[in-house]
Amino acid sequence: MRALTVEPGLPGSLAVTDVPEPRVEHGELLVDGLAVGVCGTDREIAAGEYGAPPPGRERLVIGHESLGRVRTAPPDCGFTAGDLVVGVVRRPDPVPCGACAHGEPDMCRNGRFTERGISGLDGYASPVWALDPGFAVRLSPGLERTGVLLEPASVVAKAWEQVQRVGERSWFAPRRALVTGAGPIGLLAALLAVQRGLDTHVLDVVADGPKPELVRALGATYHHDGLDAAVADGEPDVVIEATGVSSVVFGALAATAPYGIVCLTGVSSGGRPIELDGGALNRELVLENDAVIGSVNANRRHFTAAASALATADPAWLERLITRRLPLERADEAFEPHDGDVKVVLDVTAG
Ligand code: BGC
Repeated sequence: MRALTVEPGLPGSLAVTDVPEPRVEHGELLVDGLAVGVCGTDREIAAGEYGAPPPGRERLVIGHESLGRVRTAPPDCGFTAGDLVVGVVRRPDPVPCGACAHGEPDMCRNGRFTERGISGLDGYASPVWALDPGFAVRLSPGLERTGVLLEPASVVAKAWEQVQRVGERSWFAPRRALVTGAGPIGLLAALLAVQRGLDTHVLDVVADGPKPELVRALGATYHHDGLDAAVADGEPDVVIEATGVSSVVFGALAATAPYGIVCLTGVSSGGRPIELDGGALNRELVLENDAVIGSVNANRRHFTAAASALATADPAWLERLITRRLPLERADEAFEPHDGDVKVVLDVTAG
């Protein structure tokens, strides 16, 4: 069958190639792929900067933002043919570490986890894939066109769960949230903020394109004049940082209300030092009981929470997040960022 593959470490190696059909191990689902989403991590892998193939192989099937329909399911596994499913990305390390042993591989302590479509395991950019039901999440049938947003939504559901848990170390009644970055992660973070009843603000750099309207359609406030202006009429209790831009990251740490929480989700490349008054920042964090947490990946609990969040979102709004849909054969175009892109999706159906 055809699949979108890449040789990790080799820039320019992304191509549709022929790969063997998946072997369905005992107890697994066989799934007809519908779509994969393309994100910054995929672009890094295609640029040769990230990722690892399965052991003994050179090429990796890419694609960790999945959506498919179950073709066959073993009896009594909780899934049946026709179910809309998404695959969890990370698998526990083989040791396993304490976190992986407790079903929280997103918090793996030894870094020996694998990730489908990223590191050590084939991903979902093919017309058929096999999936352990323990790593499958069912979606409501209404999400047939937009369920591919579940993986990025799971990352955001984890971020919000972490914020809640950190907040609950004392009295916690957040009112205002700031999301920095209006890409897919930022917009989905804003969706979940609005669903939590928060006065939600989103900061990005662009003044036009789909982002301002997508934010306003949520009932949130869009800002594009920098961080200071975005917090001028009120400091946020919670910041979800989704740019990875150092000046925004450190600016956000200093811009929260007392007992503020900043959750960092943007993976930056490094190598761009900035000047920072570390003492002043430390003083503010200490004197305000502020907290900063990093958050990556998501376990099955977060995928399930995200599935509920998407099921209650406005379907038309979710649809507008997907700004380009292309067939697998046009992956090169999909991997080339365009102005006005929010989420780019590849159709992986057979044909
Ligand atoms: C994925 C995560 C993954 C991370 C690092 C992100 O793009 O959404 O699931 O853990 O990359 O590999």
